[in-house]
Amino acid sequence: MKILVTGGLGFIGSHTVVELQQEGYEVVIIDNCSNASEDVLEGITSITGKQPLYEKIDLRNKSDVIGFFSRHPDVEGVIHFAASKAVGESVEKPLLYYENNLSTLVYLLQQLTRKNKAHFIFSSSCTVYGQADEMPITENAPVKPAESPYGNTKQIGEEIIRDTCRVCPQLQAISLRYFNPMGAHPSAEIGELPLGVPQNLVPFITQTGIGLREQLSVFGDDYPTEDGTCIRDYIHVVDLAKAHVVALKRLLEQGNEENYEVFNVGTGTGSSVLEVIRSFERVSGSKLNYKVVDRRAGDVIQAYADTSRANRILGWKAESTLDDAMRSAWKWEQKIRS
Ligand code: UD1
Repeated sequence: MKILVTGGLGFIGSHTVVELQQEGYEVVIIDNCSNASEDVLEGITSITGKQPLYEKIDLRNKSDVIGFFSRHPDVEGVIHFAASKAVGESVEKPLLYYENNLSTLVYLLQQLTRKNKAHFIFSSSCTVYGQADEMPITENAPVKPAESPYGNTKQIGEEIIRDTCRVCPQLQAISLRYFNPMGAHPSAEIGELPLGVPQNLVPFITQTGIGLREQLSVFGDDYPTEDGTCIRDYIHVVDLAKAHVVALKRLLEQGNEENYEVFNVGTGTGSSVLEVIRSFERVSGSKLNYKVVDRRAGDVIQAYADTSRANRILGWKAESTLDDAMRSAWKWEQKIRS
């Protein structure tokens, strides 16, 4: 059974390709390599022993999207990762984000709704909740006005899918709202490859640990949390990848209750920035050089998932601990710098 993974050379995409192949699916990847490298194909192949199909396509070119589906009429499911994801950049270049993240989604859905049956998984984010009033966050928590064009593309993306599902019963879709993905494949054959200075906490920590960065800035320790630093729900990317396979199977096996469903994907446990640093120190056996600085604009105090809906309905649960995920991130960092 052939599955299209857009953005399949990226961080979460590549790990999902591995899990799909290991479950016996045939995978075709579309990527424009704007934030990924074709070398990732080798990493995937060395884990699974099977090279996925790959087409270098920019989904903003509608005619290329049409061409792809006419060459691959046998695609039975689509997992759509391809998107831009830097919050700060999205504030500077809103139109780039709206074009990259939304026109591509529209073009894909236009092709899928021409089929008799289509199965679609969308990469969404806990960013749609903003600062939620209650922890842990359930899927029923209100979607708050987006803090950035990036966040807005995830909200609008979900609305585009919901509105389309309402009138196209042949389209079966699930949005997965990710909390904070981290880590790498335990083989260290694939992992996160941030371009330039990492904006996210974990790659900044491992790059500091390896000596590529001088010092980690901890953005604020005067938040109303136990140790004063912000709390997030860090999920091992392999657990997250597995959630995609389970969600896709639910659609392919017609086990879904509605033709559009939404699930949180997290661990259900919140960790503070200082706890993440301690985890790094435990798994690496070395001290991390860090300094507390001012808060970063736009950070929410805390965000962690209520995962009971995914646990109950998808039968999926994150299995790795923060230390497991950190160990894999550190192994990957050591491998790519060696
Ligand atoms: C960020 C985005 C979110 C996006 C997600 C994708 C913002 C405000 N939010 O989430 O929309 O979906 O990335 O991965 O950018 N921290 C430090 N020092 C650092 C980096 C981070 O102390 O150098 C802290 C942050 O203040 C935060 C935590 O670490 O408390 C996690 O930060 P980060 O990895 O950037 O993720 P989010 O902000 O949760």
